[in-house]
Parts: sequence; structure tokens; C-alpha cells
Amino acid sequence: MDISLRTTVGELAAAIPHATRIFEKHRIDYCCGGRRSLAEACERSGTDPSVIVAALSTPPRATDPSTDWRKAPVDVLVRHILDVHHVYMWEELPRLNALMTKVARVHGDRHPELRQLEPVVLGLLDELRTHLTKEERILFPYVLSLCGTAPGVDACFATAAGPIRVMDAEHEDAGEALAVIRRLSGDLTPPDDACGSYRALYQGLAEMEQDLHLHIHLETNVLFPRVLELEAASRAD
Ligand SMILES: [Fe+2]
Ligand SMILES: [Fe+2]
Repeated sequence: MDISLRTTVGELAAAIPHATRIFEKHRIDYCCGGRRSLAEACERSGTDPSVIVAALSTPPRATDPSTDWRKAPVDVLVRHILDVHHVYMWEELPRLNALMTKVARVHGDRHPELRQLEPVVLGLLDELRTHLTKEERILFPYVLSLCGTAPGVDACFATAAGPIRVMDAEHEDAGEALAVIRRLSGDLTPPDDACGSYRALYQGLAEMEQDLHLHIHLETNVLFPRVLELEAASRAD
């Protein structure tokens, strides 16, 4: 769509999937203040409109689809996972947590499925927090030291196969939780009377699901087998 300063923030939030996240980051009210033009909304929040237009025009987390991660150096792949997927998750976890709590509190009476959805979503976000921390503090530093691009670490395991098994099991648990979330939320379709926060929650969960699918694919299917090969080769030397 054409993004003009006269377009209302409500229209932009509905048409551009990553717009709600940008608006929240810059404290632009797209919910009750959705009928304001982008120019007026930016003035109210004290934001430079050109920054918002540029962010709205850039596809989120753009990656080069031509990169063959099976051939890229392992340390480059690890840094890509951290910079793209972990950074995104650390931004989204508190935002989705707050949205879920608020939407269940405000709309739980009229939409009782939200009361079932809330513990599943909060449980998943909690699990992901622990999971990302384990990768960042235990497995990935070990992998980077295997690559020789980071200092050696005192690993608390005999081989990476142990932590990789745990990470794979946690990936499966996350996939199952996402399937339950889809089932309880009617495929993440907001009801007709859903407010802006309700819609932002479902949109955010759908985006997180998409990102998590790619993130888990890169770790389970590409990175982990390569780590085991690298470890075996380094022990054969
Ligand atoms: Fe990860
Ligand atoms: Fe992971």
C-alpha cells in the first residue's frame, strides 16, 4: 500500500503486518487513536514521521533468501540466529506477555477461550525465555569456541549431543504449544468485536509462530548436525 502522512494509523495497522510493533515501540496510539493521520499521530508522540515511514516500508527481519546456511561458516550461522531470531524474540516476549494478560483480563468474560489461551501462551513465552538463555549461555559459546572464533569454554557436558537433545525436545514442545494456541484461538482469527490490542496479540502470535518455525528449522535441521560434525572432526585431529 501507499504510505502517506495522511493515511490513518488504524488503516496502516490493519494493512501492514509489522506496523503495530513499530507503533508500540514509538508509543503511537493506533487503537483508540486509530483515526488520526500518521502525521498527527507522530506529532503527538514526538516522533519523526520519516522514521516511521522508513520502518513501515522495510520488510521485517529481512534476510537474504539466497543464503545457503548449510554452506555458510558455522559461526556466521550462529551469529545470524542470535542477531535475527534471538533479538526478535527478546523484543517480543515481554510485549506478547503484556498483551496476553491485558486481553484476557479485559475480554475474558465475553470470550472465555481467552482464559484457556492465557496459560498456554504465558507458559510458552516462559519456556522460550529459558530456552534462549540456555542456547546463549551454554550451547552457542561452546559452538563458537569449536569454530575458533571465541575463547574456549569449560563445557559442563562431554559432547554437544547432550544439550542438542535437550534443545530439540524443547523445540518440539514449543511446536506443540503453538498448535494448541492455534486450536484455542480459531487459527488466530480475532472475533469481529476484537479491539486493537486483541488484534495485535493474534497478529503478534502469528508472526512469532512464523519466525519460530524458521528459527527452529535453522537450529534443528542445519546448525545442530553441523555442530556434531565439527565436534567429531575436532576430536579426530
Ligand atoms: Fe535459538
Ligand atoms: Fe532453539
